[in-house]
Amino acid sequence: MCGIFGCILKEGKAAPLIHASLKRLEYRGYDSVGVATIQDGEIYLKKDKGKIDDVHRLLNLDDLPGNLGIGHTRWATHGAPLKVNAHPHTDCTGNIVVVHNGIIENFSELKLELENSGHVFVSKTDTEVIAHLIEENLGKNAELTLADAVLETVKRLDGSYAIAVISTKEPDKVICARNESPLVLGVSDNGVYFASDIPAFLPVTNKAVFIEDGELISLSATGYEIKKIKDSSVVKRKPKVIAWTPEMAVKQGYPHFMLKEIHEQPATLRNTLRMQEHYLDLISTFLDRATEVFMVACGTSYHACLAASYMFSKLAFLPTYPVYASEFIEQHGKSVNIDSTILAVSQSGETADTLAAVTCAQQRAATVLGLTNAIGSTLTRVSRVYIGQQSGPEIGVAATKTFTSQLSVLAQLALRLSKKRGKISQDEMDYIEARLEELPDMVETIIQTQEEKVKQLAKKYKDAKLFFFLGRGISTATAYEGRLKLMEIAYIPSIAFPAGESKHGPISLIEQGFPVVFICAKDGTRKTLVSNIMEMKARGASIIAIVEEDDEEIKALSDDYIEVPKGIPEVMSPIPFAIPLQLLAYYMTLEKGQNPDTPRNLAKSVTVK
Ligand code: F6R
Repeated sequence: MCGIFGCILKEGKAAPLIHASLKRLEYRGYDSVGVATIQDGEIYLKKDKGKIDDVHRLLNLDDLPGNLGIGHTRWATHGAPLKVNAHPHTDCTGNIVVVHNGIIENFSELKLELENSGHVFVSKTDTEVIAHLIEENLGKNAELTLADAVLETVKRLDGSYAIAVISTKEPDKVICARNESPLVLGVSDNGVYFASDIPAFLPVTNKAVFIEDGELISLSATGYEIKKIKDSSVVKRKPKVIAWTPEMAVKQGYPHFMLKEIHEQPATLRNTLRMQEHYLDLISTFLDRATEVFMVACGTSYHACLAASYMFSKLAFLPTYPVYASEFIEQHGKSVNIDSTILAVSQSGETADTLAAVTCAQQRAATVLGLTNAIGSTLTRVSRVYIGQQSGPEIGVAATKTFTSQLSVLAQLALRLSKKRGKISQDEMDYIEARLEELPDMVETIIQTQEEKVKQLAKKYKDAKLFFFLGRGISTATAYEGRLKLMEIAYIPSIAFPAGESKHGPISLIEQGFPVVFICAKDGTRKTLVSNIMEMKARGASIIAIVEEDDEEIKALSDDYIEVPKGIPEVMSPIPFAIPLQLLAYYMTLEKGQNPDTPRNLAKSVTVK
């Protein structure tokens, strides 16, 4: 996730406005920033790695001439956060300048093709191919307009993009295009604007034109023209007046970042399906060769590791040990050695306990692999190979979208390893891969159809003093995560156990009306899970079941239930089943009158041991 903004002003310099607008998009990414403008047929460009304020202090981002320009604030996906990888990117001549938010899946093929035609690349980004491809198209046919050259270019791109292009060829225009990455125009008496998100231009105009997938836009001082990419047909669309306050706009109209981030999951899950194959292959190769694999992480990331241990075991027959990072040194510090492999999972890449475990393992010559949301973080620097989960910044303290993205990447790794090892049948593999592709839509359906029900559930149980979360098999990890979410933001004491363990002690807590949340994935554990539900029911517990929509038996046993779509393969069930639990924690917190974004005593990144 990155932020893009640009404008053509009738009066005034573009650069200071671009700088101020990028600041409002900083929540979308903040590892590098860049601005480019045009004046008198000449391009002016400043960019560097670092947060906007730091780069501004160094370069003065307001000091570029011209009334037209584009800007970008980056969250690295391809290439480390270095100046050379910061946007805008240019073609060989420096006359075509591009900013991009999204992921170009076929960039390696395109890059090779362009290099064979003599183009010289300077960055490691996927974006740079766009500038060179436009150059190539214009080189082949000088009659093309800039808009036509961009049109021909985007037809060759696979993946997601919101792009903006300026060029000395037509120095009074900005050409934008969109596919699966957000793009919105703003219109005022003083000019036109484009941005990843409304807050970027809200202080200058509240008139917005929403751009749809498959559209190309030509912006000029006189206004905007929208065309369909597939057939160049013109689309007429008038601006809408946005009634948001700037505060609401930053959260896209959601009352809290946490809710916004829960709702972002269909999009973030789509992003994780665009992982760079190369890194998935590399990591699964390391895992394949490993003698023993420890997965180290804290909190929610640990729950992703716990779920992953079931995925690796069931799909690739690889035993792995999920370990709380804070316990790793005590538990395994003496035995870890050159034959050990550590897969460290950390959203922030900066969690002190996780880094301490990694350092210990490294000192004993173990191989360290990383999975993180923050490219450029310490974890990426100390890992032999790392993979970025591409969820974009998460502002809410409670991890939501980054958890489901971690699970999706780990499931893909397990599948990759399974393929290498030939452990499951082709039919099973095809089935799981197809369902993985459908997951973003499934999650969207859950949010659309179940959110109101969860809200009512929160009202019903708002005075409960204690909650139980139970699941069997991989759903144990889901139960732990549901418990952590409710506890950390709603401050409701909660207990989670593998359901089979509950009768070895915790069941003594059960009294009449005590809420027990069961995670009821339809997998090999279901029959015994039904027995566990019966045990709880017999002692007067109120059963809240998260069930597949066709699971009539469990629905009949439950006091309340929330449905998820049917046909979810066991190894990926934590992704859809986690969504109602995130919503439950969120709405319980509202019932308690607390702010879910800023739970007391907690920090987003825990950098102390
Ligand atoms: C819970 C939560 C924390 C983090 C934990 C690890 O909602 O966010 O439990 O999961 O502090 O953080 P990372 O993944 O950044 O290492």
